[in-house]
Amino acid sequence: MLVCRRMTTWSSGCSLRVSPGDARALLRVFSSLSCSGVIFPSTRRSNTFKQHLLLSSNRIPISGSHLFPRLKPVEFWKCMSVGPDRGNMAVIDTLHHLHDPDSLSYLSQAEASAIDEELMGSMGFSIDQLMELAGLSVASAIAEVYRVEKYKHILVICGPGNNGGDGLVASRHLFHFGYKPTILYPKRTDKPIYKSLVTQLETLSIPFLDEDQLSSASLKDYNLILDSIFGFSFHGNARPPFDKILQLLRDININTNTQIPIVSVDIPSGWDVELGDKDGLGLKPDMLVSLTAPKLCAKTFRGSHHFLGGRFVPPGIAEKYNLKLPPYPGSSVCVRIGKPPSVDVSALRENYVGAVLLEEHINKDPFKQFQEWFEDAVAAGLTEPNAMTLATATSEGHPSARVVLLKGYDHRGFVWYTNYGSRKASELLSNPWASLVFFWDKLHRQIRVEGKVEKVSDEESDEYFHSRPRGSQIGAIVSRQSEVLPGRQTLDDQYKSICEKYADGSYIPRPNFWGGFRLLPVSIEFWQGRESRLHDRLVFTREGVDDDQWRMQRLSP
Ligand SMILES: Cc1cc2nc3c(=O)[nH]c(=O)nc-3n(C[C@H](O)[C@H](O)[C@H](O)COP(=O)(O)O)c2cc1C
Repeated sequence: MLVCRRMTTWSSGCSLRVSPGDARALLRVFSSLSCSGVIFPSTRRSNTFKQHLLLSSNRIPISGSHLFPRLKPVEFWKCMSVGPDRGNMAVIDTLHHLHDPDSLSYLSQAEASAIDEELMGSMGFSIDQLMELAGLSVASAIAEVYRVEKYKHILVICGPGNNGGDGLVASRHLFHFGYKPTILYPKRTDKPIYKSLVTQLETLSIPFLDEDQLSSASLKDYNLILDSIFGFSFHGNARPPFDKILQLLRDININTNTQIPIVSVDIPSGWDVELGDKDGLGLKPDMLVSLTAPKLCAKTFRGSHHFLGGRFVPPGIAEKYNLKLPPYPGSSVCVRIGKPPSVDVSALRENYVGAVLLEEHINKDPFKQFQEWFEDAVAAGLTEPNAMTLATATSEGHPSARVVLLKGYDHRGFVWYTNYGSRKASELLSNPWASLVFFWDKLHRQIRVEGKVEKVSDEESDEYFHSRPRGSQIGAIVSRQSEVLPGRQTLDDQYKSICEKYADGSYIPRPNFWGGFRLLPVSIEFWQGRESRLHDRLVFTREGVDDDQWRMQRLSP
């Protein structure tokens, strides 16, 4: 997380004091804002500076001189954006919003409707104008993140209402940006605005799919899905044919065995506008483009890219509804909000060819260092960066290992969830010492953690259990993990019978044989692959079991 500790104004721009580990995140921000930028290192950080400059030279136009002799070396990194003064201030403000989501307004469903009505009433906007602005913002946000060379073929799924109209407009703009959209618009309306939008798309020879042409197999033809099915007026459950479409999209990556990101317009379809994906039946988009202002559900959005679009809100509306909105950079019609942007993986890989892990760079708090590397792995778009190998051993010392998913970490340790009757659990109950290994291949990084394991509290397990999709909750009840089964059918039959039991949507209690474990580390080793197998290995060892004091040592590769 980027922390802007202090800002001062310079004659030529602004400077920020940021922690060394955050400098990379800052560059991502600059690159996402298409802003020129220069990073100044303190003299003590010069090696890292070179790495960051490497990254920046790929993505950011560096202004003529990055060596400012009048700049005194300081303890922290100094970062300066070089551009028009107003632009600099916008960058600074945007950083504030990127890292402090509470600085934004989130609208309830009623507020969103009221604002829409007012825009189209006293403010004089027409519905097609608003759709045009929304669709252009969505297309621009997509173009900012998903490069046309890699994500050319986009399936746009349009719902029956205004959200669907936004998708139709976005498709037209995407076409002009060089993408090849295909449209699924199963519930058309006769309203002239929508008919005109369809005509405009047909004129461009943009293909329309029939709903029965949509299947797991046909989804593979696309690099990206644009979900413009339901917007902020959505209530209740999805009706046919959208219920089936949502079902297909929910498991898109399992169905297609590929990673096809979903971009949702304003509300991820299937979500409650205020509570988010409360039933676990909604989509899990990679990108959310909120329109006008984010709706309350956006607080629970966990995808990689959150943008705000619709740069038209009149100050009168912003004042009346006390809207706190980020400034839009330059002439952009969309702005990234919520969390640091991810890095282009190819650029990151290039950067890491020369990556090093030196004592003077590593965070002295191993948990913070873990967090930095974990965020890099997420930003690099790795598949399941939270997958870790868990090694356990019986009390006689017979080892076993398997992959589990990290579901939480903090200064206490690393948490995963499992069946308390499984092999790993019974080994842990007789011998609590265990080890975890993360391997992030594209980053040439490995983290090894060793320590004692204990169960998490019932409250913690309950909370996580109920955050899971209902299908996974039922799966946990059905599976007597690691026990011998007579055949697959037994499992399927049991799953079906429990699904029927809870078909009315009632609360599913967590079974007492399922819950979390936490590994309390006594050592954490960070490994950075280097050339000629001369890797960097820095290991933290806890000085005392109850102590938060760590000793750090370098190990031979
Ligand atoms: C990517 C991946 C993630 C997994 N995540 C979990 C998990 O979070 N919890 C779990 O119990 N099993 C998970 N598994 C399954 C375990 O690897 C293992 O098969 C299962 O827990 C039984 O292990 P045991 O018999 O040693 O107890 C995962 C497997 C893979 C490949």
